[in-house]
Amino acid sequence: MHLRERISVPVFVLFVVSLFFVMSTRQLAALDNGLALTPPMGWNSWNKFRCDVSEDLIRDMADAMVSSGMKDAGYQYIIIDDCWQVDRDEQGNIIPDAGRFPSGMKALADYVHSKGLKFGLYSDAGRFTCQRRPGSRGYEFQDARQYAAWGVDYLKYDWCAHRKQNAEASYALMRDALKAAGRPIVFSICEWGQNKPWLWGKNVGNLWRTTLDIKDCWDCIDKKNRRGWTRILDFQNGLEKYAGPGHWNDPDMLEIGNGNMTNTEYRAHFSFWCLLAAPLIAGNDLRTMSPEIKEILANKEVIAIDQDSLGVQGHKVRDDGDFEVWSKELRDGSRAMILFNRSKSDKEISASWKEIGFSDVTTAKVRDLWRHKDLGKFKDSFSATVPSHGVVMVKVTP
Ligand code: GLA
Repeated sequence: MHLRERISVPVFVLFVVSLFFVMSTRQLAALDNGLALTPPMGWNSWNKFRCDVSEDLIRDMADAMVSSGMKDAGYQYIIIDDCWQVDRDEQGNIIPDAGRFPSGMKALADYVHSKGLKFGLYSDAGRFTCQRRPGSRGYEFQDARQYAAWGVDYLKYDWCAHRKQNAEASYALMRDALKAAGRPIVFSICEWGQNKPWLWGKNVGNLWRTTLDIKDCWDCIDKKNRRGWTRILDFQNGLEKYAGPGHWNDPDMLEIGNGNMTNTEYRAHFSFWCLLAAPLIAGNDLRTMSPEIKEILANKEVIAIDQDSLGVQGHKVRDDGDFEVWSKELRDGSRAMILFNRSKSDKEISASWKEIGFSDVTTAKVRDLWRHKDLGKFKDSFSATVPSHGVVMVKVTP
């Protein structure tokens, strides 16, 4: 006998209505974990170290985060990307690589916490990670409980080997698993923008990747479709309406200090990630960075633009081919402005107060955020010579 034949009509109707109610509240369920009210800041192993991760490396990075002044500048999360995991045991528990992490993840998390920092891990919504390690598909709740028990504060969740899974549902499942595990864990969606995560990410994660992987170059593109940061930048414009406190577009981790660009180009990369209110996840070797790289990554005036509590992502206001003007609204009524020169020679670029969003303003104060200098009051507009492949970044206060 079918279910329908065994129960009375009113009971059957009640059953269908309740099922519908449960399903619709599930879909509407919010992330509401109260985390990442400003874009998360930290360090991740992937861009520089790939699979060469170990507890020694992670301890070193935590130490360097503190001794370099990066922690003071606001960086918080130390995140191990792919390759920390090797297998599952008979009960399905995820097993870290014991050769590389002999003291175990709990001890490592404790160490990171003892430095006043937070600890992050990586997994994947499919059966395998991108480096063919075990993914979390089918083990979401078990893995989330394990992360919580270890003291994980941040989970980056990738999208390899997903087959035909529904992206939103797959990420919502891990969101629910993290919630059930009962520890506040920042949830980083990494499905490379394939299923327009900006349209659904707000209810699911704290940040979502918008593109395929970044590469340490100005505008290159390689066989794996990894791209230089200016190509990634071009894709961010227009996504600003989807970002806000607790939910951010993620144009991928920083390449600053990885050696393949000039300091002028790295300064521009950092300026833009801050104007975009992007997560600031350093991807270089913090132990050996030069003073110039440290000065870029730890520039508090530029970081303050990223971390502004209004939580607005900046956008492009003028595009003259190789010369662009971008602006970002800030909590105190001022705006951050970037003059950007993509060309091969230096160029004077100017921008008016009107085009950066101040329609009634005649005079405004200008502060240079890289030279740390008040430049004075300017009437109607501002202009500056911008180096090739560089920016001038200022704060404009009417
Ligand atoms: C994907 C992600 C990267 C990194 C690697 C690890 O490519 O987009 O950020 O996590 O996987 O395998």
